[in-house]
Amino acid sequence: MQRLPSHIAIIMDGNGRWAKEKGEDRLYGHLHGVESVRNIVEAAAEMGIQYLTLYAFSTENWDRPKYEVSGLMELLVDTIRNEVPTLNKNNIKLHVIGDTSMLPQEANYELTEALQETANNTGLNLVMALSYSSRWEINNAVKQIAVDVKNNKLKSDDISNEIFQRYLTTKDFPDPELMIRTSGEYRISNFLLYQLAYAELYFTNTLWPDFRKENLYEAILDYQGRERRFGKTGEQVKDEEATG
Ligand code: IPE
Ligand code: IPE
Ligand code: MG
Repeated sequence: MQRLPSHIAIIMDGNGRWAKEKGEDRLYGHLHGVESVRNIVEAAAEMGIQYLTLYAFSTENWDRPKYEVSGLMELLVDTIRNEVPTLNKNNIKLHVIGDTSMLPQEANYELTEALQETANNTGLNLVMALSYSSRWEINNAVKQIAVDVKNNKLKSDDISNEIFQRYLTTKDFPDPELMIRTSGEYRISNFLLYQLAYAELYFTNTLWPDFRKENLYEAILDYQGRERRFGKTGEQVKDEEATG
């Protein structure tokens, strides 16, 4: 409990395969994926994790069959609507990153409501990545920076890591220390490319609908056994730890 990551990011993957294993439709997998979301959000809040980012829908996911996309959007609307009281009860503040202009009107309406209704909560920050992709985010940041330079609000010489990250959708959140991906895929799939620069990556074969608190604890224990060097030598890191 003393060395918890303050920000955990999760690529929730494997809903479709989970359903297929059971001879069910992909949407059945997504429906059960919501159970895992509930369980993991609760675990994170209980532990006192400050930020949890969940990759729920990527920009590329719009290219899935129409039937699956509309099913997912309906599930999104229902889930947000139903979960707001629980979020409030657990003092959880909701945030959204992604191109929400792509979402159906009803989803946007529910999201806006949920953001407002949880805005004063001070516990866990739950960041939902919806219609999100990192290249979309970085392109937008570059566009905005170009505009600010043109309007003399920013000098090109002043652009640093610190300034750049203020143009990202995650500007209010620290970088994740731990990134988890379920379902045995070893890739990033356009998720937080800039922010994950020094994150510890954890991959598990567990499919998202089977992922529960115990699986999260396992990932955190694994993270706690890692030496994070940030480019330095192991000796330097140990010296720094010894001198506090
Ligand atoms: C993750 O599960 C959920 C979304 C991407 C929306 P998938 O739907 O990608 O499931 P698999 O990877 O096909 O098993
Ligand atoms: C990544 O999963 C996106 C989400 C989990 C929301 P995908 O299933 O879309 O990723 P790929 O296509 O396997 O890389
Ligand atoms: Mg997938």
